[in-house]
Amino acid sequence: MSEDKTAFEKKTAHDEKAAAFKSDAASGKKTALVTGASSGIGRATAEELIAEGYEVWGIGRTFRTKNEETDFHPVVLDLLDTPALLDFLKDFDREHRDDLKVLVNNAGCAYYGMHETLNPQMIEEIVRTDLEVPMVITSRLLRTIRKNRGSIIQICSVTSQEPAPHGTAYGAAKAGLYAFSRSLLAENRKYGVRVTAILPDMTETPLYRNADFEPDTEPGCSLSPEDVASAVRYALTQDFLVDTVTIRPQYHRIKKKRM
Ligand SMILES: NC(=O)c1ccc[n+]([C@@H]2O[C@H](COP(=O)([O-])OP(=O)(O)OC[C@H]3O[C@@H](n4cnc5c(N)ncnc54)[C@H](OP(=O)(O)O)[C@@H]3O)[C@@H](O)[C@H]2O)c1
Repeated sequence: MSEDKTAFEKKTAHDEKAAAFKSDAASGKKTALVTGASSGIGRATAEELIAEGYEVWGIGRTFRTKNEETDFHPVVLDLLDTPALLDFLKDFDREHRDDLKVLVNNAGCAYYGMHETLNPQMIEEIVRTDLEVPMVITSRLLRTIRKNRGSIIQICSVTSQEPAPHGTAYGAAKAGLYAFSRSLLAENRKYGVRVTAILPDMTETPLYRNADFEPDTEPGCSLSPEDVASAVRYALTQDFLVDTVTIRPQYHRIKKKRM
């Protein structure tokens, strides 16, 4: 009898939580902030979020094509300019205290090659863009996201969990980002915050601009930015918490660039 009551209580608590999530979603404006929204995965994710009813603020340095979506607000900002980033976050947080629901830490930087070929500036740019910036942005927006029982999506990489020869510094920064995501979830899960790490394998984007290889363009050899964006949507729309999503193309093949 007492076991039945416990099960009943558990179900009631679950139903109340599910109803709270649904009423959050139905309570009008939903705002998302996406870093690196001028290109590749960030741009596709911004589009996916707009389709899901979010108003999206997207950060980038260069918006090459005009986004016609009225629910998209481009923010031209160098994320490595910390004072400018903090100024932006302060205003953004104040303006969106009641409706900021999603933060996507997506902006990234990569240099490839044997580790001895990387100079200190390259290493600094990788570590700051791929690890420091997501931690700084999250720290400034976390109170609001917690208040709104929102979600944080971290665009990590399969290199967060696997050796990354010719991408050692990049892989190390992405492993750090994954470790940060897991600890952040452990710290905030009880407050209703969701933290999801997305770990994509090779995706056809300009990320490989500095490499002597690129994703093979044969069908099934690379993911599209839209594939990664659909993993983001999946994580955001389940009734259960999704902590890690790893996605890969069917085949593991790269193509040497003609230099
Ligand atoms: N492509 C892949 O195979 C792959 C696989 C796993 C994970 N990822 C991750 O996915 C994320 C997105 O990369 P992507 O593949 O879509 O490459 P991408 O097309 O080169 O996109 C990178 C984005 O980051 C922005 N960005 C970089 N540094 C910035 C800075 N200092 N200030 C402002 N914006 C900055 C870029 O904006 P601007 O160009 O306007 O500066 C751009 O919008 C990265 O975190 C990457 O590590 C990619």
